[in-house]
Amino acid sequence: MPVIGFDIGTYAAKAVLLSIKGKGRNLSVALDGLGLAQMPLGIMGQWEEQPIPARRAMSVAMASLVKLAKLRHGRFAALSLSGDTMIIKKISMPTTTQKELRATLALEAEQYIPYPINEVIIDGHILATDEQRGQMSVLLVAARKEVVNNYIQAVNMTKILKPNVIDVDSLALFNAYDFAHPDSRENVILMDLGASLTHITVIQDGQPSSIKEENVGCQRITDDIEDAFGVSQEEAEAIKLGAQAAPNPTEAAAIVERVASNWVAAIDRALETVRVENPDYSPARYYLAGGGALIKGLAENFTNSLGVPVEVFNPFRYLKINPKKFDQAYLDYIGPQMAVSFGLAIRKEEVR
Ligand SMILES: Nc1ncnc2c1ncn2[C@@H]1O[C@H](COP(=O)(O)OP(=O)(O)OP(=O)(O)O)[C@@H](O)[C@H]1O
Ligand SMILES: [Mg+2]
Repeated sequence: MPVIGFDIGTYAAKAVLLSIKGKGRNLSVALDGLGLAQMPLGIMGQWEEQPIPARRAMSVAMASLVKLAKLRHGRFAALSLSGDTMIIKKISMPTTTQKELRATLALEAEQYIPYPINEVIIDGHILATDEQRGQMSVLLVAARKEVVNNYIQAVNMTKILKPNVIDVDSLALFNAYDFAHPDSRENVILMDLGASLTHITVIQDGQPSSIKEENVGCQRITDDIEDAFGVSQEEAEAIKLGAQAAPNPTEAAAIVERVASNWVAAIDRALETVRVENPDYSPARYYLAGGGALIKGLAENFTNSLGVPVEVFNPFRYLKINPKKFDQAYLDYIGPQMAVSFGLAIRKEEVR
């Protein structure tokens, strides 16, 4: 059942289709198709006020990606949510099996969710169990039904796709990482540097142990360039991407530097909260994904600031690529921005 992973962000919609064969040691994953389309500015941030245009923009993006990127044999769509429409929290509760988890979780979760429990969809992932105390820690994920339904409707509106899975951006990114490093027990931090949001996923002993979302993103660089040089939003974006020369390159570099230091501060805050529970936690490595990972020199900048190796995460590096079908240089460039859609396309239950 080919499933297209769609990561629809505030800046761009990204789609990945994989061809997955075999299981376990015989698993073979090849890239089947990929595409990226810019979203109308601001529309994805208006779900609350204007759900109809947002839904339409989403379904248009999905349908055109299927057409342009020739993903026609993908009949199902896996999507992800992010932002303040959802709640991700590590909680502690009495031990149950993964099977019984959902039923028990609804009761346990009530105290952590600021909405009536019948208005949310809840899911959970067991992280660790403490046999002696009869307690386990669970990653609780809750999303408002209304938001999930908007996404489902957007898929149905395409008329060519059916909804398959609704996941969470940061957990999809973890999925992509887990595929690339299946046996790693390393403590690492995954950063999804998007246009409006940054997700920081803290991994401990190979499991996501906490997820932070910060309102700092690449759009801030564009906005600051726009203000500093008095140029249009389009020109500011072109300057940021290097397609147009900056009126003052030193000032432009300082703007990027400033946002980079905001990101480093966000990491420090995330680490501080993790260390409340685990004072000894220290990451061995960071991986950067999202459009921000494409910023020249950012990984080096972070490595210097954090004193820990920072690498750009490219999910395509671990795949079979047909050179007749794909341009390797383009895949190397765009890979980090496609990491969430890749994580949605690679469904765990089939891979394991
Ligand atoms: N080469 C590059 N240099 C600098 N910035 C880049 C580059 N390529 C992309 N970006 C920026 O990355 C951002 C888009 O990244 P991404 O596609 O991950 O965002 P998104 O998923 O749409 O946003 P969000 O997750 O915050 O809703 C844009 O702000 C874009 O300008
Ligand atoms: Mg994103």
